[in-house]
Amino acid sequence: MKFSKSTKVGFMDRFARTGIAVFFAATAVLGLTGAADDAARGRALAERLCATCHLNPGQVEKTGPAGIPGFQAVARRPNQTREAIVSWLQSVPSVMPNHHLTQDEMEDLAQFILSLRNEP
Ligand code: HEC
Repeated sequence: MKFSKSTKVGFMDRFARTGIAVFFAATAVLGLTGAADDAARGRALAERLCATCHLNPGQVEKTGPAGIPGFQAVARRPNQTREAIVSWLQSVPSVMPNHHLTQDEMEDLAQFILSLRNEP
């Protein structure tokens, strides 16, 4: 029964592969939704706390009398990362008001800022 044995192995193999593929697809989808949720929370926070300085229409790199970069310019910096934005916020920079952000809020804000990178 050499033939039927190999068929069985083939089936189990395919079954296992499908399971693994489904697992990874689900992880990817959950990961993406998580990031989208973070960005949405970050957007709400940014509109409340940061907009007057960083989200003015047409604001690019160092615009306006205060020379403050818009968030899209911040997002588009070469090698910009979520970690870099979070660590800027963690440093409570003296050039910015202290918003007393939690770690989660900083991460949501960073996710939101990076989400602007590919917006028109
Ligand atoms: C009162 C104005 C003001 C507010 C409100 C403000 N910022 Fe800023 N922000 C600044 C200034 C000024 C700088 C420094 C700009 C510079 O010199 O490059 C800065 C720089 C930054 C940078 C670094 C930009 C870079 O050059 O890479 C980030 C990130 C940032 N702000 C995030 C935020 C977030 C998030 C909020 C809201 C929670 C916020 N800021 C609120 C004024 C402000």
